[in-house]
Amino acid sequence: MKTLENKVALITGAAQGIGKSMALLFAENGAKLVITDLNAEAGENVVNAIENNGGEAIFVKADTSNPEDSRKSVDAALARFGKLDIAVNNAGIVGPVQSIEEYDLNAWNKVLSINLSGVFYGMKYQIPAMLKNGSGSIINMSSIVGSAGAANFSAYVSSKHGVIGLTRTGALEYSSRGIRINAVGPGYTDTSMIDFLDSEQKDIVGASHPIGRLARVEEIAEFVLWLASDKASFATGTYYPIDGGYLAQ
Ligand SMILES: NC(=O)c1ccc[n+]([C@@H]2O[C@H](COP(=O)([O-])OP(=O)(O)OC[C@H]3O[C@@H](n4cnc5c(N)ncnc54)[C@H](O)[C@@H]3O)[C@@H](O)[C@H]2O)c1
Repeated sequence: MKTLENKVALITGAAQGIGKSMALLFAENGAKLVITDLNAEAGENVVNAIENNGGEAIFVKADTSNPEDSRKSVDAALARFGKLDIAVNNAGIVGPVQSIEEYDLNAWNKVLSINLSGVFYGMKYQIPAMLKNGSGSIINMSSIVGSAGAANFSAYVSSKHGVIGLTRTGALEYSSRGIRINAVGPGYTDTSMIDFLDSEQKDIVGASHPIGRLARVEEIAEFVLWLASDKASFATGTYYPIDGGYLAQ
């Protein structure tokens, strides 16, 4: 039996990057997928890739910063697949690179509303669907900067710290009712999110991880697969860095 056989998983921001990698890996491992993103074309491509590989998936165009869209995404999972077992609240943006005094106020609100409120809205609607099953696994996407600062990224860092607090709170509220809730904290990962760095800067950032390079999306996806699965049955309320040793320094 495959690791996620008979499971229904919703992943936000799954049209590209880490989210796409998780969607493809979950599908290979037997899950039925609800892929949400702002980017419909790229999201549909992920659905096609899963279907071409013999899996099942649907795409829902949804903005995580809009609570109605988060509700609609869960409703789509229930309408198509009848239940929701796994949710990965992954969508995020990095925002501008500015010091606090320069930081654009609209950008502050946008980053917080996607990266932090978006995770709250997701959980708010995912949890009732999981309570109907009496089980579920939620994984929220934080970062190494969920537990460390980073100069000139105040909104991003604050949002990722907030995700950990929300994760711990959710776990205290729902672990006794069968829902495990965890956060993961990738180190710098080779996706278009870090394209604000040129290739030389990416090498320098990669070298700042003791492993000596950036993470590959598959390395994050494999860890999240385990957390999503029943193999992680005693894991809840925790933040797991996957960081090439970054936070050990
Ligand atoms: N790449 C890194 O170095 C890194 C490190 C740590 C954590 N993360 C986190 O991992 C997650 C995925 O990042 P990635 O590197 O794959 O980035 P990415 O930019 O490649 O992918 C992000 C996806 O989220 C979607 N998205 C953005 N805003 C959205 C919204 N409001 N509603 C729905 N979808 C939206 C985008 O369209 C895109 O498909 C993010 O939460 C990010 O903060 C990334």
